[in-house]
Amino acid sequence: MGYRQVTGHTPSKVAKGRSADRPAREGIAMSRTADMTQEQRKRQYELEQQARREILASSPAERSEVTQKAYDRLYSNAPWHSSLRATPESRAARVKRQATLLTQHVARAKRVLEVGCGRGDLLTYLAQRFPGVEFTGIDISEVKIDHVERAKTPNLTFLAGDCVEPPAPQHTYDLIISSQVLEHFHPDDTPKHLHAVCQLLAPGGTYEMDTPHRYTGPHDVSKFFTREASGTHLKEWTFAELSQALRAAGFTRIETDVPFVAHLRRILPVPGDAVLMPVGVKVALEQVLRYIPGWRLRRAVFRMARMDNMLLYASTAKTHA
Ligand SMILES: C[S@@+](CC[C@H](N)C(=O)[O-])C[C@H]1O[C@@H](n2cnc3c(N)ncnc32)[C@H](O)[C@@H]1O
Repeated sequence: MGYRQVTGHTPSKVAKGRSADRPAREGIAMSRTADMTQEQRKRQYELEQQARREILASSPAERSEVTQKAYDRLYSNAPWHSSLRATPESRAARVKRQATLLTQHVARAKRVLEVGCGRGDLLTYLAQRFPGVEFTGIDISEVKIDHVERAKTPNLTFLAGDCVEPPAPQHTYDLIISSQVLEHFHPDDTPKHLHAVCQLLAPGGTYEMDTPHRYTGPHDVSKFFTREASGTHLKEWTFAELSQALRAAGFTRIETDVPFVAHLRRILPVPGDAVLMPVGVKVALEQVLRYIPGWRLRRAVFRMARMDNMLLYASTAKTHA
C-alpha cells in the first residue's frame, strides 16, 4: 500500500453535528459516545467487531490494505461516529488542550510527524502557530483523512497511508505525536511501530502519545456491551506494558504527566508544557492498585487517580548509538 498526498477541502464542507464531546479528564481523550442511539451503538459495534476480526486475522503482508478497507467501511457506514461529527467548537477546544501539552516540544522542533492524525485538527492548529516548523500527518483511513481542511500554510502535509512504520529516513523528526492510536494497532505491530518511530526521531527527540488505560476500559464502543475491549481497540494497554515496550524499542527516558496539574492549571495558569515525572511512579502505583478487588471499584480508583488516559513522553538518547 502506497502513500497518497491529501489536499483536503475548505472548512465550510466539514460535516456539522451535535457534539458528542465532554470535557475530558486531563483534557485529551477522544470524544464520548454517550449521545448515540442504542441502534447506532449496535450498528457501530457490529462494524467495529468486523474490522477487529479482519485486522486480527490478516497476515503482515496484507494488513495495511485490510486495515484501510476496514476503517473506511466503518467511517462510511457510521457517519454518526464521534470523531466525524464533533462540532467545530468542541474540536477546537480539544486541540487547544492537546497543544498545551506540546508547545515547548514543537517550539524546539524543525520537523514534526503525527501518526493516525485523523482529520488533522491538531497539526492544522500547530502549523498555523509555528510557521517555521514542518508538519506531516498520516492516517490510514481515506474517508477520514479526506475530512482534513485544506492547508492554509505551506508547512503542512497530509498523507493517506499506514503509520505502523512511517515512510521517512532515520532521524527525520524531532517530535512524533500519536493521540488515541496505539490501541488500534494489531498487537504484533506495536513493537514494530515503536522501534520505527524511535529510529525516525533525531537524537534527543520525543514520541508524545496518549492512549486509554485498560483498567478503566473498555474505551471503544464495546463499553456498552462487554467488559473487555472488543471493537477497534485491539489492545488497551497498562503503564507497565507500555513502558516496557518503549524501553525494548530503544527509548531511554519515559515520562508521564503529574496527575491533577492540568486540572489545576485551568484555575492557576502555569506557563510551559505538562509537568512531568518518570513513568516508573505510575507503574509502581498501578502495580498496587491492580489488586483492588472488583473491576468496578478498581476502575473507579484508577479514574480518581487520573490514570484512565495514559500520557507518555518517550525520548531517545541525545546521541544515537
Ligand atoms: C481514535 S482515532 C484518533 C484520531 C486522532 N489522532 C485524534 O486524536 O483525533 C484513531 C485513528 O487511527 C487511525 N489508524 C488506525 N490504524 C492505523 C494505521 N495502521 N495507520 C494509520 N492510521 C491508523 C484511524 O484511521 C483513526 O483515524
